[in-house]
Amino acid sequence: VARLTIFAEDARMLSDAGDLAELQPSGATLRNWNVLDTVGLGPDDVLAAYHEDVTRVCAEEGYVLVDVKQVRPGDGGQARQVFLTEHTHDDDEVRYFAAGSGVFYLHVADRVYAVLCEPGDLLSVPKGTAHWFDMGTIPDFTVIRFFREPEGWIGDFTGDPIAQRIPDFDALSARAGQDSCWRR
Ligand SMILES: [Fe+2]
Repeated sequence: VARLTIFAEDARMLSDAGDLAELQPSGATLRNWNVLDTVGLGPDDVLAAYHEDVTRVCAEEGYVLVDVKQVRPGDGGQARQVFLTEHTHDDDEVRYFAAGSGVFYLHVADRVYAVLCEPGDLLSVPKGTAHWFDMGTIPDFTVIRFFREPEGWIGDFTGDPIAQRIPDFDALSARAGQDSCWRR
């Protein structure tokens, strides 16, 4: 299940691991699907495994294109850099985490909502929302991506350097890991 941390624009932490209802002012929505075993599967087979959920959400939300993106540790750091800078899109950014994790940072009003997505999480970021994504220094994840516009994934970069001062994926996932040890 996703973990939400809220920061002020100066990177002060305002709320950590709070109620996911605190995500509401950002305009993003988060849903949860049952995680299926997709270990070792390629993109087509991941999509086939989730056929039922994918078909349902496309009908509900009007998505017309679906694909699967897998990033592995060996893919290097270049993939990470592209969307690590604040940007917007003309389409909602909708991602289902089938495996692995990543952090979406939504910059709305004077807050940054950092959503650490984990397997089973379906996050929808409304079009026009300033955001960035961090897959970490050792990326390893599989997401299903949903689109309404064929070119909707293209990013318009805002020029705001805020992403550089907010704790990154490695920092947030390390914190989350410490907490789960503590709970045991
Ligand atoms: Fe994006």
